[in-house]
Amino acid sequence: MKKLFLAWCLIFGYSLLSAQPYDFGHPMPVGAYYYPEHWPEAQWDRDLGKMAELGFQFTHFGEFAWAMMEPEEGQFDFEWLDKAVGLADKHGLKVIMCTPTPTPPAWLTEKHPEILTVNDQGLTQHHGSRLHVSYNHPTYRYYTERIVRKLAERYGQDERIWGWQVDNEPHYGVLYDYSEGHERAFQDWLREKYGSIDSLNIAWGAVFWSQSYNHFGQVQIPNKNRAPQGANPHALLDFQRFNAEELAEALRFQADLLKSLVDKRQWVTTNYAYFKFLPSVDPFLNREDFDFAAHTMYLTSGFLSDEGGPLAHRLGSGLELAFSQEFAESVNGYTGIMELQPGQINWGVINPQPLPGAVRMWGWHAFGLGDEFVCTYRFRQPLFGGEQTHKGVMETDGVTVARGGKEYVQFIEELQQLTKSGDLKADATMPAALKARKTAFYWEQDNLWSLGNQPHHSDWDSWAHHYTYYQNLKRLGAPVTFVSPGEAVDPEEYPFWVVPAAHMIDPSQVKIWEDYARAGGHLILSVRTGTKDHNSHIWEALLQEPIWDLIGARVEYYDHLPAKYPGQVSMGGKTYPWHIWGDVLSPMEGTRVLASHDSEYYKGAPAVVSRDLGAGSVTYTGVWSDNWELEYEVLRAVYGKAGAKILNLPPYVFTEWRDGVYVAVNYSSKAVEAPVPDGAKVLLGGRQLEPGGVTVWVE
Ligand code: GAL
Repeated sequence: MKKLFLAWCLIFGYSLLSAQPYDFGHPMPVGAYYYPEHWPEAQWDRDLGKMAELGFQFTHFGEFAWAMMEPEEGQFDFEWLDKAVGLADKHGLKVIMCTPTPTPPAWLTEKHPEILTVNDQGLTQHHGSRLHVSYNHPTYRYYTERIVRKLAERYGQDERIWGWQVDNEPHYGVLYDYSEGHERAFQDWLREKYGSIDSLNIAWGAVFWSQSYNHFGQVQIPNKNRAPQGANPHALLDFQRFNAEELAEALRFQADLLKSLVDKRQWVTTNYAYFKFLPSVDPFLNREDFDFAAHTMYLTSGFLSDEGGPLAHRLGSGLELAFSQEFAESVNGYTGIMELQPGQINWGVINPQPLPGAVRMWGWHAFGLGDEFVCTYRFRQPLFGGEQTHKGVMETDGVTVARGGKEYVQFIEELQQLTKSGDLKADATMPAALKARKTAFYWEQDNLWSLGNQPHHSDWDSWAHHYTYYQNLKRLGAPVTFVSPGEAVDPEEYPFWVVPAAHMIDPSQVKIWEDYARAGGHLILSVRTGTKDHNSHIWEALLQEPIWDLIGARVEYYDHLPAKYPGQVSMGGKTYPWHIWGDVLSPMEGTRVLASHDSEYYKGAPAVVSRDLGAGSVTYTGVWSDNWELEYEVLRAVYGKAGAKILNLPPYVFTEWRDGVYVAVNYSSKAVEAPVPDGAKVLLGGRQLEPGGVTVWVE
């Protein structure tokens, strides 16, 4: 992990001094959430003792405990927390301490209802939920500052505290805040961004439908419920940017405050969640504020991509866990998973039992992906409150280890055995075959917002489009790192660079891509790339003209079809259905055609093209296939031609490498062959990988 981080620093020029990775411990500490405030004090010693006895190494306190820490305004009580920290330490458990800002106490919202958010129907949120405050409201800032400072002063030099989590899964519980205060803050942000109202009118194309503003005070938060023909897409995009920036600013405020007060040995992070559902969150904006971005994942919620057959609801989505880890890791070069379910959850679509073995498999998958630690949510199942039916490591009696808890114990013991046997090596170097398929993945949150604001086909889902490429990269066994616009990528470090639907670009980005290919990199771009500028205005040019020279083709036009009458594209004798997006391309001289349309009035027209450029190549996939298989074939063709040794994993099967071992996990509903080469030494599991199974080997 550290090596990866160092390489990343060198490539992107990120200051090594500002973000040294911590030594979390080998092979990977495993911990569990505990809420002392939920249990009689007489049970804390027993519970924390049991946690340690089961093999857990750390615990996690405090993210919702503001009302316990400050029961009345200005009256602080940390004695109970001191006692809990003391007991954790007594049992050898390190503590992650959290700031309690998602849940303001009743005295605070009673005195200052103006800090509560307002939803898109104009309803002010009530006390008693969480994430229902305007984070940057000056009043909330004041109280936040005071409680965070108190906590930091009390525990910032305490060796029993391992690190800090700011807030909890930060986002707005209503997605966006439509309060008056937030509207004024948005106006201020626009004033700062544009300087004059004329510049805003131009950027927003406000002359359209006579939207032109005379002054910033007239601007309202775009709200689809109040805009019968839809909100101005440029206003919407700016509002999305504003939200992400001001949420990042609220996190920065807490991170800076903590860092100014706590010992350097204590790390500071937050636990980002469900990236695709929380449009107000962009962890890359806090790259320089936190030591790293932690992530959370509940695999069986039913809200995620889990189409791997009849057992998928019990196994969850390996794609989402892999994405969440590699995405969070890309922010600062390393990450840890702060919440991973130990069993059934309470808030999903159907909340099934995980398949026996699934909990252990998730742990192994997180290990293989490179998480520096795994923390399970939660140790005890609560007996009251909104998450009563959420399984814990322990059953409701508090003394019986639950099935998922036993799987955690098994996983922890297996990690320890492989460490003792010397098979897990902290200093192992990544094998050449893996290095040769390392892939950079272009990521710009603004693009996802903008594509989503104007999808152009009701089935267009920007996340699914990105996942089409991400899932197929994992089938090839490629380690993936997400990179931001403007960042140069070194083809020596990342021989491949995938760019899905980057429709808003700056001309300088085309130059970065071109330089990358000329220097030997293999670039793969997909539909919609290069259609617009960063104001989300279409270029005054022909369709995607800024990328024509790069891809060696003209994009003549695009088509969309009804799902029930899909089009066909053929590549290498096979056909692939599509209906959401299909470009018709005209290749220039020297450009190869990899796939052509096999239906519609443009049958025979090129749909996927590839060309050599300098020492590298550029491929453009002008169709989004319905089963994601065309993209798989295109990636295989590009990686194969470049000489990279790739895996050929079935969908929902993942293989990762870490600390000298390979880990394969199976989220599909069928048994499959693990990709264990002849002569490899199998350490755990077998060559046959059952659903929910784990195979670990050394080559
Ligand atoms: C997470 C959240 C936790 C808890 C958990 C239940 O998203 O961060 O606080 O609510 O879900 O599964």
